[in-house]
Amino acid sequence: MRYIAPALLVAAPLVAATASSKRGLCVVSTKTPQDDSIWTNDTDLTWYYNYGAVPTQDYENKLNFVPMLWGAPEDPANDMSFYNTVSNLIKEGQNITYVLGFNEPDGCTDGGSCVSAATAAQVWKKQMEPLKRDYGVKLGAPAVTGAPTGFNWLANWFSECAALVASSGSNSTNDTSCEVDFIPAHWYGNFQGLASHLGQINGTYQNISGIWVTEFACADCSLEDSQSFANQSFEYLDRIDYMDKYSYFGAFRSSVSNVGPNEAMLTEKGKLTDIGAWYLNKAATGAVPKGSASTVAKFAGWGGLVAATVFWTIL
Ligand SMILES: *[C@@H]1O[C@H](CO)[C@@H](O)[C@H](O)[C@H]1NC(C)=O
Ligand SMILES: *[C@@H]1O[C@H](CO)[C@@H](O)[C@H](O)[C@H]1NC(C)=O
Ligand SMILES: *[C@@H]1O[C@H](CO)[C@@H](O)[C@H](O)[C@H]1NC(C)=O
Ligand SMILES: *[C@@H]1O[C@H](CO)[C@@H](O)[C@H](O)[C@H]1NC(C)=O
Ligand SMILES: *[C@@H]1O[C@H](CO)[C@@H](O)[C@H](O)[C@H]1NC(C)=O
Ligand SMILES: *[C@@H]1O[C@H](CO)[C@@H](O)[C@H](O)[C@H]1NC(C)=O
Ligand SMILES: *[C@@H]1O[C@H](CO)[C@@H](O)[C@H](O)[C@H]1NC(C)=O
Repeated sequence: MRYIAPALLVAAPLVAATASSKRGLCVVSTKTPQDDSIWTNDTDLTWYYNYGAVPTQDYENKLNFVPMLWGAPEDPANDMSFYNTVSNLIKEGQNITYVLGFNEPDGCTDGGSCVSAATAAQVWKKQMEPLKRDYGVKLGAPAVTGAPTGFNWLANWFSECAALVASSGSNSTNDTSCEVDFIPAHWYGNFQGLASHLGQINGTYQNISGIWVTEFACADCSLEDSQSFANQSFEYLDRIDYMDKYSYFGAFRSSVSNVGPNEAMLTEKGKLTDIGAWYLNKAATGAVPKGSASTVAKFAGWGGLVAATVFWTIL
């Protein structure tokens, strides 16, 4: 969060949602853990991430965990804690197939990790690539915001990676930049904007074959617009072949949503909304999410970031 793209005023047909092996859960920490089993009982969802390196207990061994290196450590040249944590999970027998890089490093407010491209390149070489080398884990690039400046940050990051490799005198002819297996994207806007944003990533990074969308919603939209966005985008993401995985934002109650109440997959009472039901490939519930008019302003900014463990918190 939280660059919201300007609306493109184009109507598009509504398409029904279906089951999908690509769908996962973006887990935010809430004060209603009793809701967690909604996403794990009798579910099509296959994976989750929680903005951190350590699994969330209620999802452990139910959905496949994807650890994230959220931001840069204080001592980027020497800190190995992310590598060590993931390495230990693997040694304990956890099935770690993928890891995610920095969360919105181009953002310095609203939960962005605010990391320079140069520092991110250094940390990548130090802690991310060894996970691939030692365990064959696939690496997701830094997930920049959907803002146009996000693209600039990512391009700068690849440049910094190349400069770092050149200055370190690597002996491998293949080692020219930072190694990336897929690119995670974020999008808050309408469906046409999402499709065009993904097309731009696919076109720009033709040397990287997979894209994930790890946060997306029609932020601050009407219920009708939120629902048609969800229906259309789930169908689209399922269909396009370069899309490997996606996680809608989000899996929380409408009363604590910071992207508007209508985007939530749970009502203020913890019932599945239509969007939530479609995401789980269940029949629409007709449950209308409610949130006070002040909800958006009140929760904008995701103030509850916990420095030590680094995950999102909804109060
Ligand atoms: C979304 O798809 C469901 C079927 O999965 C359908 O029942 C519903 O009418 C659709 N709603 C919108 C707003 O497109
Ligand atoms: C999920 O299953 C557990 C164990 O059977 C049960 O206690 C819980 O209420 C279920 N949750 C939902 C949302 O159905
Ligand atoms: C590990 O998880 C991946 C998906 O992330 C899956 O394809 C693979 O089969 C799993 N391996 C085991 C041993 O469960
Ligand atoms: C992939 O392509 C981008 C854009 O052209 C470039 O910046 C990056 O260095 C390339 N990555 C590798 C590993 O070749
Ligand atoms: C490259 O090879 C030389 C000679 O084997 C070695 O001393 C040096 O450490 C290597 N550099 C890197 C970055 O691996
Ligand atoms: C270098 O890249 C080539 C072409 O992608 C590949 O065949 C080769 O195995 C790579 N070598 C190493 C050491 O990774
Ligand atoms: C994605 O990019 C590739 C070229 O790298 C292109 O062949 C393909 O058509 C693109 N996919 C879409 C859906 O635009």
